Amino acid sequence: MRLVVQRSGPLRGEIRPPSDKSLTHRAYMFASIADGPSEISNPLTGEDCESTVRCMEALGARIESVGRARKVFPLPALMQPEGELDCGNSGTTMRLLSGIVASYPIDVTLVGDASLSRRPMKRIAEPLRLMGAKVYGDVPPLRVAGSGELKAIDYQSPVASAQIKSCVLLAGLRAQGQTWVTEPTLSRDHTERMLRACGVEVSSEILAQGGHRVGVKGWSRPSGFQLSVPGDISSAAFWLVAAAMVAGSSVRLAGIGVNPTRTGVLDVFGQAGLPIGQALLAEALGEPVADLEVLHGEGKGFRIEGELVPRLIDEIPVLAVLATQLHGESVIRDARELKVKESDRIAKVVEGLRSMGAKIEALDDGMAIEGPAPLSGTRIQADGDHRIAMAFAIAGLIAEGETAIEGAESIATSYPNFLDDLARLQS
Ligand code: S3P
Repeated sequence: MRLVVQRSGPLRGEIRPPSDKSLTHRAYMFASIADGPSEISNPLTGEDCESTVRCMEALGARIESVGRARKVFPLPALMQPEGELDCGNSGTTMRLLSGIVASYPIDVTLVGDASLSRRPMKRIAEPLRLMGAKVYGDVPPLRVAGSGELKAIDYQSPVASAQIKSCVLLAGLRAQGQTWVTEPTLSRDHTERMLRACGVEVSSEILAQGGHRVGVKGWSRPSGFQLSVPGDISSAAFWLVAAAMVAGSSVRLAGIGVNPTRTGVLDVFGQAGLPIGQALLAEALGEPVADLEVLHGEGKGFRIEGELVPRLIDEIPVLAVLATQLHGESVIRDARELKVKESDRIAKVVEGLRSMGAKIEALDDGMAIEGPAPLSGTRIQADGDHRIAMAFAIAGLIAEGETAIEGAESIATSYPNFLDDLARLQS
């Protein structure tokens, strides 16, 4: 699908961006291995999370729609699926699910689309092999021959990745002993928070020598739960940036998850001198929720590096768009992981923004952007990457002329109502 975006007038009003993708995946997975039924209201209906639903059903869970909620009825144990498990475009599905299936005596092949089939799986295959599972393939298709007798490990993850951490912890839930994962800096901790809220003992500590360590006891089973999934800050980020850039804008984003391991984008707005109003609401399964408010403003360049990177990794494409309109230089470093997301996001962002007239350079682990620079419309190839498609749609709102985005159907991966929400804010 080709999406054509024109320069926009002010964005105004309130929307509720789609529910959080990370939380929705985890909710379906944890409910499917829980000791009783669960009810998940307001799950994200994007394609990634629907892949997780189909995989969990193939593994024996019964998942029923009740209005906008889903009820999940788990079996006492996961069962051998009939065919392959199709994870679609979803790295989270493949990596977290591999940890779960590794801990059952079943033999499962996980497959994905062209983008997922290029993404690295060795990072999860290695620790699962150390635990005693047989894992074949370092890129998809991935065959996991699980075992009911995994042994606990103390794993040092070379990257701060919530997907690696969660994969190992989930396998550890049915391993013999205490499983630990150490990561160089703290990645999103939804797995830890949600498991704790479901009665699982989760230990965590900040290490004196740097890094973060988290552990679970073997043979712990989450209890069934009720969760109303908050909005996704990674989706909200598109409107934070759009409103900040488009003159006269004033936008309120209702019910957004503001877990501190996800709110790096708010820190960057602070650095840029673009204040975001926050009104905290109640917690949902250990996850804080807030309404956010943003106005158009003039800001200055920012610096993203170190521990900030995993706290905003998915927001970097749209933050790079913002940087083109800030005064001075913005620098993004320590973000090599961007090269192995749904596309090589360093290459895609640099190539696309440069073709719109931005002053931007690729670095080996990030990018440097000099602003402000006027943007002009161009043709972007999203290459099956939803966040690239949406980041350039937002850039198109301030560009002269037309911005055409090819492959915009990928937006449905995480934000099925993206164009409806844009139209609402424009009207
Ligand atoms: C996710 C973790 C992140 C993120 C992805 C979702 C998760 O990946 O980019 O969109 O739900 O755990 P990494 O943890 O591999 O960086």
